[in-house]
Amino acid sequence: MKHEILEKNIGLMALVMILAVSIGGLTQIVPLFFQDVTNEPVDGLKPYTALQLEGRDIYIREGCVGCHSQMIRPFRAETERYGHYSVAGESVWDHPFLWGSKRTGPDLARVGGRYSDEWHRAHLYNPRNVVPESIMPAYPWLVEQSLDGKDTAKKMSALRALGVPYSDEDVAGAGDAVKGKSEMDALVAYLQVLGTAVKNKR
Ligand code: HEC
Repeated sequence: MKHEILEKNIGLMALVMILAVSIGGLTQIVPLFFQDVTNEPVDGLKPYTALQLEGRDIYIREGCVGCHSQMIRPFRAETERYGHYSVAGESVWDHPFLWGSKRTGPDLARVGGRYSDEWHRAHLYNPRNVVPESIMPAYPWLVEQSLDGKDTAKKMSALRALGVPYSDEDVAGAGDAVKGKSEMDALVAYLQVLGTAVKNKR
């Protein structure tokens, strides 16, 4: 009879269903918050330098994540093409994550070191310069716009508050480290470090 009450009351039924389903979800999700494998940085991971950090913000501003994921899944087809699959410990200091879910272009999780800086510059200036059939947009303004470094230290302190191990010197020198560099310099520095903490073992 008690069950009848439940069955005839759609609001109550929905609530109980949500409860039942969330138990299944939570038993999978909650333990991850406490496991080293998801919380600890991989060996050799370094926080982004001031320039790389600014590059990452340009990557976000330009919407690169709308066409590029940074998440190599543990399948043969992916690891053959991109290298070692992504592990959680590589992105513990990424706030926000840029894993993405749309791949109009290739995954960039391990693009660091795959091409020269010059290749990236030519490619970002106009992708057709190096990949004639490319449909990627051109970003020529990155060469002209330079960084003033006004907010770099503040960005670093904010990240430090979230647990990224920046030293006082890192924060103090952040503005000067990027001042006068072009946005292109910053973005290329960022791309070149992606995925390099984990070797491209196949
Ligand atoms: C409209 C979708 C689109 C956007 C937006 C986009 N890309 Fe691409 N990207 C592509 C496509 C398609 C390719 C493959 C062809 C090529 O190499 O140009 C590519 C290739 C690349 C490659 C070469 C990857 C490899 O492994 O060969 C890099 C690096 C790259 N993009 C970086 C960026 C960055 C940085 C941004 C933001 C400034 C960006 N892309 C924005 C579509 C996009």
